[in-house]
Amino acid sequence: MGLLKTKEAGIEACAIARDMQTFDLLIEDMEAELGERWGGLDFSDGLLYLGSDEARGLKFITVAVDKEDEKDLTPVSRLISAAVAARIKVILVAYDLSPAALHELLRLGADDFTPYPLPEGALHEAIERISRPATPTLVASGGPSNVSRAGIILPVSGLAGGVGATTFSVNLAWELALQGDESGLKTCLMDFDLQAGSVSTYLDLPRREAIFELISDTDSMDREAFSQALLSFNDKLDVLTAPADALPLEILTTEDVTRLLDMAASLYDFVIVDMPKTLVQWTETVLQRADIFFSILELDMRSAQNTLRFVRTLKAEELPFENVRFALNRAPKFTDLSARGRVKRLAENLDISLELMLPDGGRHVLDACDRGLPLADTAPKNPLRKELSKVAKSIMELTQEHAKAKGEL
Ligand SMILES: Nc1ncnc2c1ncn2[C@@H]1O[C@H](COP(=O)(O)OP(=O)(O)OP(=O)(O)O)[C@@H](O)[C@H]1O
Ligand SMILES: [Mg+2]
Repeated sequence: MGLLKTKEAGIEACAIARDMQTFDLLIEDMEAELGERWGGLDFSDGLLYLGSDEARGLKFITVAVDKEDEKDLTPVSRLISAAVAARIKVILVAYDLSPAALHELLRLGADDFTPYPLPEGALHEAIERISRPATPTLVASGGPSNVSRAGIILPVSGLAGGVGATTFSVNLAWELALQGDESGLKTCLMDFDLQAGSVSTYLDLPRREAIFELISDTDSMDREAFSQALLSFNDKLDVLTAPADALPLEILTTEDVTRLLDMAASLYDFVIVDMPKTLVQWTETVLQRADIFFSILELDMRSAQNTLRFVRTLKAEELPFENVRFALNRAPKFTDLSARGRVKRLAENLDISLELMLPDGGRHVLDACDRGLPLADTAPKNPLRKELSKVAKSIMELTQEHAKAKGEL
């Protein structure tokens, strides 16, 4: 479909659909907004075009999708992923699409969305939104480079599956982001659980293609590339989600992990890392770099046995045991005396001190996770939230110590 105008016309945008003629109102609106400076393409030509040099000048594309496309979303998904990888903004135009399909396409990283037939002014507004210099979802690269950051590295690791490591990471990161906001302290959350990573689910963020590129080539990573791969949650917390596809943990080498941590530490005051629950080659790297390494466990045999093994490994390999803080999740209430006795015996048997006691937050916790929001937003008075807010406060105090220590050097 030769709707694509020549380069001299200065193409700024493309409208892409299975059959552009189905979306005649979109054609009218594109003409009203851009005159001659746009072109129409079908999915396969669109994909080819996005891979070409000419596409670099594009400010955005619209991707129009209707019920017919829902039978097989692959061509649409490919197109959106290609645009995201080429850092071209995407406005999704959806005609009678099911919420599930819409959700799936938005998760791939479309920047904006409008229904079809387009409401009056909707395309204009969508273009305005995506043209703002610092869009709310993408992190503008860095800020001034001369700001010295505390770079406190705080990995979080569950000692058994499902003990609450991600809930801890996400909510602690958000508490730090809230508390640090006024004094200009910046927090970043990285999901290193490349296979099962659920940070993106708990904060309702898309998993972006760019992340795979970033972690598979950390050698050539610069501030710009790193910042571009992050997503901002509510303008306060920057998040590196797990990649779009589940990857083997070994894809990261110790060098990759060092580079990623160094980069994050140079740009942020607090770097929370959600770790995979298995010990991998680069666990040691993270442990060595950690200011505090949070190990989360529950009051059950599985956690107890894994903790025992973990402690033995740390001691045998002479890893920095002193940086590890054990946190007992779903800790029993003070009033539950027999359970308190079990906690005491657990700590004694493992020869560890359980420094953090995280209460059971009940259904609110699951609800918050499902809604993709931190507890502070959905249930601020929840006992788990209150405890995490206290943990964040004591970490804040660490920055002051760091600052002092630097001043004394
Ligand atoms: N203190 C708590 N009170 C109530 N519910 C909790 C608490 N901590 C975690 N949960 C719930 O337990 C479930 C598992 O938590 P989460 O995903 O954080 O665990 P995880 O250790 O990261 O698991 P995985 O091994 O899958 O990575 C979630 O549904 C979460 O809402
Ligand atoms: Mg997890």
